[in-house]
Amino acid sequence: MTAKKPAAPKKKTEEPKAKPAAPATPAAGGKEAAPAKKTKPAPELLRGFRDILPEEQPRWQKLRDTVRALAEAYSFDRIDTPILERVELFQRTVGKQTDIVEKEMYAFTDASEEQVALRPEATASVARAYANHGMFNLPQPVKLWYEGPMFRHERPQAGRYRQFHQAGFEVLGSAEAIMDAQLIMIAVQIMKDIGLPTVVQINSIGTPETRQAYLAELTSYFRPHRAKLSEDDKRRLQKNPLRILDSKDPTVQELLANAPPIVDWLDETSKAHFTKVLEFLDEVEIPYVLNPHLVRGLDYYTHTVFELWEAGDTGERAQNALAGGGRYDGLLELLSGRPTPACGFAIGMERVARTLAERNLPGTGRPAPQVFFAQLGDAARRVGLKLYEQFRQGGIPVAEAFGKNALKTQLESANKLGVPYTLIIGQKEVLDGTVIIRDMDSGAQEIADREKIVSLMKRKLSGAPEAGEAQA
Ligand code: HAM
Repeated sequence: MTAKKPAAPKKKTEEPKAKPAAPATPAAGGKEAAPAKKTKPAPELLRGFRDILPEEQPRWQKLRDTVRALAEAYSFDRIDTPILERVELFQRTVGKQTDIVEKEMYAFTDASEEQVALRPEATASVARAYANHGMFNLPQPVKLWYEGPMFRHERPQAGRYRQFHQAGFEVLGSAEAIMDAQLIMIAVQIMKDIGLPTVVQINSIGTPETRQAYLAELTSYFRPHRAKLSEDDKRRLQKNPLRILDSKDPTVQELLANAPPIVDWLDETSKAHFTKVLEFLDEVEIPYVLNPHLVRGLDYYTHTVFELWEAGDTGERAQNALAGGGRYDGLLELLSGRPTPACGFAIGMERVARTLAERNLPGTGRPAPQVFFAQLGDAARRVGLKLYEQFRQGGIPVAEAFGKNALKTQLESANKLGVPYTLIIGQKEVLDGTVIIRDMDSGAQEIADREKIVSLMKRKLSGAPEAGEAQA
């Protein structure tokens, strides 16, 4: 078995490239300039990969905190699986005929001649871990969550990257419709808690066995229109007809308006399961849109499939779903031979962070410093270094500018940060064992005993009366 090479990108990057630094020119004015140090452009990022910069982190943090809070509240345990897995895992589960496995996998042969792949998603890995570690023997269902990078060699565009992050929830070992509904509820609630209104798009694709009759019907519906289809859609129709429902081609979209909806072809058990899921959603007042064209791009789904779209999104951004998931009752059996129903979903973290930014919604930053250290001289720096840690242990957020020397510049930094107090330590205070406390609002200063400074500042910051430690 040879791993498929990822398709070479057709177009040059749409993202602006960093300009190489301009070469240094000799200084004007006749005098020979000192030979300029040669600068060179730093290596560029790979296409479709990006840095998540410090200024973006607060929104990411808010999402991470919310995911963790919901996971804990709903009794999900964290799991981390490796980023590199055997390529076979994804071929068997996500499906050989899917875009993900066929075209987008970062697959290669490693130095030990193993066929490996950077994970394009994590559901297959979670299912593998469940089977590998005998989680069948635990009380069922087993509820797991994860967060981490995934890799797909897709064509980069807004909201679509080659390395991206997912936060996912999986419930393994239960066939109950309430599990599908609870997962949808959690996904919606995460978005609500971070301030994003979303709409649930939902469909049922039944089981592989009962889907056969529908696929035959769908293929014969499209047969007279074959000539109008793109090569890609023709191939889909032949190899994986369900995926035609997902086509973005306008001609296909028009034809789809009259295509038979899959729900009409579901067997009684699938229909009953889907009805129950919808009833649970009605019960918790989660609005949804029944979307007969929602099929998702992974082969392992059975019964319920769903996505969360940003509210107001009518489908133009459908390839930008904020989250997606569904039931995958056959996947565990495929891997381990043990029938184990399961369902789950994953949130696309880049897409959520980007939508938060577009909507100008706030994130969760570092706690704002309450105290600033200003120091004069190396001896004071040494004291400051120790005090900083004492404040951290005391739970008071502190800031410093140990790299700066002049008191004026240090006070400017303190002002910019908006701290209520600055502690100043000069040579005299080092010798005296004292600290100057400067009230940044009034500019008033007082001297305090260094030994008691943490508890004194705690009282000052909480507004409690001082017990006379400070000597005016
Ligand atoms: P998926 O729909 O392929 O499902 O991915 C889930 C989410 O990841 C998408 O809705 C999207 O937000 C984000 N995503 C996917 N590809 C990219 C990309 N190239 N760049 C940025 N974001 C992307 C799965 O992966 C399933 N494992 C979900 C699941 C869990 N089903 C059951 N359990």
